[in-house]
Amino acid sequence: MPEYKLVISGGRELRGETSVSGGKNTSLAVIPAALLADYPCQIENLPDIDDVRVLVRILRSLGAKVDWHPEAKQMVIDPGTVTSNTVPFALSQKMRASYYLMGALLGRYGSARVGYPGGCDLGSRPIDQHLKGFRALGASIRDENGMIVTEGRLKGANINFDMVTVGGTINVMLAAVRAEGDTLMTNCAKEPHIVDTANFLNRIGAHIRGAGTDTIRIHGVSRLGGASYTVIPDQIETGTLMIAAAATRGDVTLHGCIPTHMEALTAKLLEMGVMVTSQDDVISVKLRQGHRAIRLSTQEYPGFPTDLQQPMSALLTRAVGTSEVIENIFESRFKHLDEMRKMGAKAVINGRVAHIEGVPELHAAPVYAPDLRGGAALVIAGLMAHGTTEIYNPENIARGYEHLENKLNRLGASISRMPCVNEVNGDAIRV
Ligand code: EPU
Repeated sequence: MPEYKLVISGGRELRGETSVSGGKNTSLAVIPAALLADYPCQIENLPDIDDVRVLVRILRSLGAKVDWHPEAKQMVIDPGTVTSNTVPFALSQKMRASYYLMGALLGRYGSARVGYPGGCDLGSRPIDQHLKGFRALGASIRDENGMIVTEGRLKGANINFDMVTVGGTINVMLAAVRAEGDTLMTNCAKEPHIVDTANFLNRIGAHIRGAGTDTIRIHGVSRLGGASYTVIPDQIETGTLMIAAAATRGDVTLHGCIPTHMEALTAKLLEMGVMVTSQDDVISVKLRQGHRAIRLSTQEYPGFPTDLQQPMSALLTRAVGTSEVIENIFESRFKHLDEMRKMGAKAVINGRVAHIEGVPELHAAPVYAPDLRGGAALVIAGLMAHGTTEIYNPENIARGYEHLENKLNRLGASISRMPCVNEVNGDAIRV
């Protein structure tokens, strides 16, 4: 695909209705989980995002038969044709969730060779807890020329995570569902997509209890069937659109969401003076006047999600007063604020704490999307700013948001994709 930039003509209110897409981080777990099945699985409500595209390439490279119809949001995965246990580095480093291939292949075939995972650069992102869980289940682990090789006949075990990890909880769950005997996992993460992945696995015959609490019990089974399963809506896309609506002082109604997943964000928006109402699977967000500064601290679910810290801190750059944002989950998740300073934002960053002094207005500037949610934060900044903002490296956004600019444009934004052409010699710019 040719390189492009996003060009945003700012200052327009978002108004109207749109629907939320299927969950990115749920889909990235459920698709590898389908490799554990003994029969084909049909997954519904999948988002059309680049990370899913990479996962499809990975599954096909293993020999799985994958029929994906993005327009129908549907994928059929037949693991019966898998012939390989190897995910090459070139594919694994394209995304974070490639680590789930370790748990799924190990759990199903007793061995996996997977390159180190990639994903957003948010500081150090070790996977020691995933490996600790596999080891406890009886797997041996070695590093073979940059590939992580795990193998062994797995037996149920007790695993207490040293810290709350979303990826670790899901990965060890994947490995344990077909292990012999019972597994007890404690200090687990409780995110909605952990529950969704467990629900999918139970639908195909696994025996998982307690997902969504800090204790998960798994009774290993020797066979798993196939099934049709619909993934939950994307909590982070929902939140990003809610924040974008407030940022433009707009009036937006979102359909197909799960309001209980949004409680931490909703509480903070209400505290800022944004009007948020919800009923069944619909959330409406409206803002007429200025919004207030707040104190925000990211936590594991049900706390305020780190993935919404970046979009939210973009909104805070225009609040009345000075906000304090504490990022507890990742060590480096404020790069978008460095970019936003070019647009007139006032932010002082000290390690994991950012103090953001609200300014009356932002102005347009060329900026660089440092990562997925940081890119979304810059889109929100561009929507608020006067003038025409250019966002370079928007590929980061397409990894995890389904056609974000189309959705926003239908609500009244003006965002277009333009080729990155160097005005001096006409070459595509590599950023
Ligand atoms: N951690 C360890 N060791 C481990 C695992 C995690 O030290 O073995 C640390 C991490 O370094 C981090 C913290 O524990 O400081 C939490 O990491 P976690 O494992 O929960 O995160 P992750 O699995 O790497 C997933 C999502 C992220 C989301 C986080 C937190 C996927 C593919 N990624 O990452 O999503 O921010 O959970 O909710 O599900 C995104 O969508 O933009 C994104 C980054």
